[in-house]
Amino acid sequence: MKRVKLLRKGGAISIRAVSLILLYLAIACSWQKGSDAAEESAPVPVTSVRIIDANREPQNWLTHGRTYDEQRYSPLRQINENNIGQLGLDWFYDFETRRGMEATPLVVDGVLYVTGSWSRVYAMDARTGALLWQYDPKVQRSWAVNLCCDVVNRGVAAWQGRIYVGTLDGRLVALNAETGKIDWSVQTTPIDKPYSITGAPRVVKGKVIIGNGGAELGVRGFVSAYDAPTGELVWRFYTVPGNPAEPFEQPELERAAETWKGGAWWEVGGGGTVWDSMAYDPELDLLYFGVGNGSPWSRKIRSPGGGDNLFLSSIVAVRPDTGAYVWHYQTTPGDSWDYTATQHMILAELEFEGRQRKVIMQAPKNGFFYVLDRETGEFISAEAFVEINWATHVDRKTGRPAIKRDAYYGNDKPFLAMPGPAGGHTWQPMSYNPGTRLVYLPTMKTAYPYQLEGNFQYSDFGWNTGIDDLVAAMPEDEAQRKALKAMLTGYLVAWDPVKQQPRWQVKQANIWNGGVLSTATNLVFQGNGAGYFNAYDADQGQQLWSFFAQTGIMAAPISYAVEGEQYVAVTAGWGGGVPLIIGGMLSEAANQNVSRLLVFKLGGKQKLPKLKTTLKILDPPQQTATQETIERGKALYHKYCGACHGNSAISGGILPDLRYTQMHPVWNQVVLEGSLESRGMVAFDTVLSQVDAGAIQAYVIARAHADKQSLLTQSP
Ligand code: HEC
Repeated sequence: MKRVKLLRKGGAISIRAVSLILLYLAIACSWQKGSDAAEESAPVPVTSVRIIDANREPQNWLTHGRTYDEQRYSPLRQINENNIGQLGLDWFYDFETRRGMEATPLVVDGVLYVTGSWSRVYAMDARTGALLWQYDPKVQRSWAVNLCCDVVNRGVAAWQGRIYVGTLDGRLVALNAETGKIDWSVQTTPIDKPYSITGAPRVVKGKVIIGNGGAELGVRGFVSAYDAPTGELVWRFYTVPGNPAEPFEQPELERAAETWKGGAWWEVGGGGTVWDSMAYDPELDLLYFGVGNGSPWSRKIRSPGGGDNLFLSSIVAVRPDTGAYVWHYQTTPGDSWDYTATQHMILAELEFEGRQRKVIMQAPKNGFFYVLDRETGEFISAEAFVEINWATHVDRKTGRPAIKRDAYYGNDKPFLAMPGPAGGHTWQPMSYNPGTRLVYLPTMKTAYPYQLEGNFQYSDFGWNTGIDDLVAAMPEDEAQRKALKAMLTGYLVAWDPVKQQPRWQVKQANIWNGGVLSTATNLVFQGNGAGYFNAYDADQGQQLWSFFAQTGIMAAPISYAVEGEQYVAVTAGWGGGVPLIIGGMLSEAANQNVSRLLVFKLGGKQKLPKLKTTLKILDPPQQTATQETIERGKALYHKYCGACHGNSAISGGILPDLRYTQMHPVWNQVVLEGSLESRGMVAFDTVLSQVDAGAIQAYVIARAHADKQSLLTQSP
């Protein structure tokens, strides 16, 4: 039996294994007595057995997706379609910063663990919200320049009395679950490269599995496993080959290297970061992870001779004990559009033509919904879940997309691709409901004009996508921006993975919406970019309940119970890649971002404090620069500033909108000397001169004048 096999060490059952079995019995008994009994006894550590049997303790949320199959489905039944009207806020917790919130909390026997911005960890009483401890890894704020998509974190892992968190600067930290004190901490990434960690670790068979990000800046992707008690490195799997003149770290990299042709991809890194999703099947003993995009984005730069560029944009299955390769499936061969396959993966059993199959499902950025056999990696089916134009279909026999020739853009004219780099769906988790057999997923209709940067040169500061940022700059004309906004749409889709078609969908006001939770009582919970936290009926998508959260929601909700009372919790707070870059165009709610944890129960009576709104007035100084200087400033702005302060100098409300900044005498101190570095505003003196900084300022002033004018002409 698998369970026994898990516990065996060198053939003989160890004392540890015996105590684990006893522990398992204790858990099984306490479950029969109800959740109260488990609470009164001493804290029981989280183990493999507990996570594998998570359905025996639906009151807890022990791992990122609740179960190893990552279904994000709650079996709890107290909150249902009939009483959902009585669901109310019970408590909330305000975080220190107003940066993005992407975390899924864990709940272990009445304690809730959640992460905030800058990789901070909080432990709270899950019933009252009382803070038990908090941990701040004190990430150097200047590291923010190495992050593509905000200073976010998506959650922790719990195991044997420890809480594990990956930090923005690449550390993996093990904390004592009771005190929040550090047990051990290891640097998982080379510190001289722009790596980052935003994803939640998973613990499988006593190993903490952790990936990283950084493909926009230029890194080589890998995923590592650390011994959970000691922090010792057990294995590492590189997702792309290094310089083929040097020995390959793993045997399959030799085969992978044959799919990279010409070019010196290893100089920029090649990409393929494992920045988010994982899943584990204890019966097959397979660990699955999703691999990201190429670095730089276009294959024409990385691998000018063509080729699939393995294992970019792939789902890879390995043995969790050794990291040994078992199979892979590549969703986007020769990726050139930032089409990561790092999106949420769900394991389920589905029936195809009378045959039960163990499948893995993913809706990656490229817009196709994939169903694969998770034992072998065999392709079963794929259909588009959003409008796409880079490929016509996925071939049923080969499982390869039929990519349109003009999708491989050059540097003469842009290819307006659907989806864009934000994807048809990105990290916001989906949910699979075994009752309705539907996958609930937040989708986005997006587009982006890809064009190669004229003369790409690797820079050891900032982004290295090889893309012409100016071509993709948001229209400066207000009317054009409105028209563009109308084209970008978000949906909550209930997808039938067998028929590969939507059952229902709800159109949303914004493209950037929250992750999803579904429950045994036919409910689907999701927050959205317009600031509402909603519940729908799982069959038909009818909205049953809504709560105004005052701020955009991106994270996925969870449900748990303490002392027999069911709760629904979600971290609210706007941010992440899309809101930072084009958020100013997307949402009104975004302009008043609040980062907080919201917890609901039946009969909850708590109210949120009134929002403070401040009236902002555009009052730019006189323009003294030439048109030529302004144009140069525009190019520099989009190269170095737009990723944080917003495309076309329109902020998404998370970081200062420079059009409103009245600090011109100290501009150079902030921009070149780093006077606000402790708050995450990096010094740019290594890449910008005083003349450059002045040109950027001239551009921002020009944008403020233009928008002041259009606001005047458009006022009601
Ligand atoms: C990695 C993200 C990031 C990038 C890239 C970035 N900034 Fe900032 N910037 C920040 C943060 C964070 C703050 C706000 C600090 C605070 O909370 O006061 C800030 C603040 C500022 C301020 C002060 C605004 C005010 O109203 O107080 C100016 C001016 C500024 N940035 C200019 C620039 C310019 C010019 C560039 C490009 C050369 C740039 N920034 C690139 C993150 C960034």
